[in-house]
Amino acid sequence: MDGNGRWAEQRGLPRTAGHEAGEKALFEVLDGADDLGVRWFTVYAFSTENWRRPPDEVQFLLRFNEQILLSRQEELHQRNIRIQFIGRRDRRVPRRLIRRMEEAAALTQSNTGLTLTIAFNYGGRTELVDAVQRILDSGTKRVTERSITRHLYAPEMPDPDLVIRTSGEYRVSNFLLWEMAYSELVFSETLWPDFRREHLHAAIKEFQDRDRRFGGLGGSEGPQR
Ligand code: IPE
Ligand code: MG
Repeated sequence: MDGNGRWAEQRGLPRTAGHEAGEKALFEVLDGADDLGVRWFTVYAFSTENWRRPPDEVQFLLRFNEQILLSRQEELHQRNIRIQFIGRRDRRVPRRLIRRMEEAAALTQSNTGLTLTIAFNYGGRTELVDAVQRILDSGTKRVTERSITRHLYAPEMPDPDLVIRTSGEYRVSNFLLWEMAYSELVFSETLWPDFRREHLHAAIKEFQDRDRRFGGLGGSEGPQR
């Protein structure tokens, strides 16, 4: 969800106003995905690198995420949405926020609709380090693709078909590195606070026009069936 700061700066507002405006985008795009029948929807809310921002902005983002969880969890629960989190629960994440995350996950854990995965204090490299460490801790000598996949933060989450990066940045920025191996990437010039259902639809249309071969030749005679 990139481009909040620039959206605010363009309007002569503080960067935090851009984060606030991003909330509307998030829930509209989530609605749009849910209406299309999307089963897994993941957002990058705060990265392991975002701690490098000025302390005021970091504080704001921690509080803001906590507030959103509080104000929206009931509504999401009513809509049968399951909330889960990926990322490292290290000491920098305030205990209160961790409690909110646990509450939201517990409240919605039996829901059978869309799974909303919130990447918070998430880094793709950190996720891989944590996975490999846990494999080592288990005493296994052999590391396989399967064992790494099973030790990711959300092992049951399928690899994303489509990853959308907003705000005209052409980077992966440490998001879902392992899971993204064969994802289709769509880059949008739209700043996150302006992102709406129609932008999601445009990205999905672009995705539908791609030819996915997964390293094979495509078609039914390809090696990947
Ligand atoms: C994304 O918007 C929000 C977070 C990383 C939390 P930015 O804050 O990165 O916005 P720009 O890139 O400065 O415009
Ligand atoms: Mg940014």
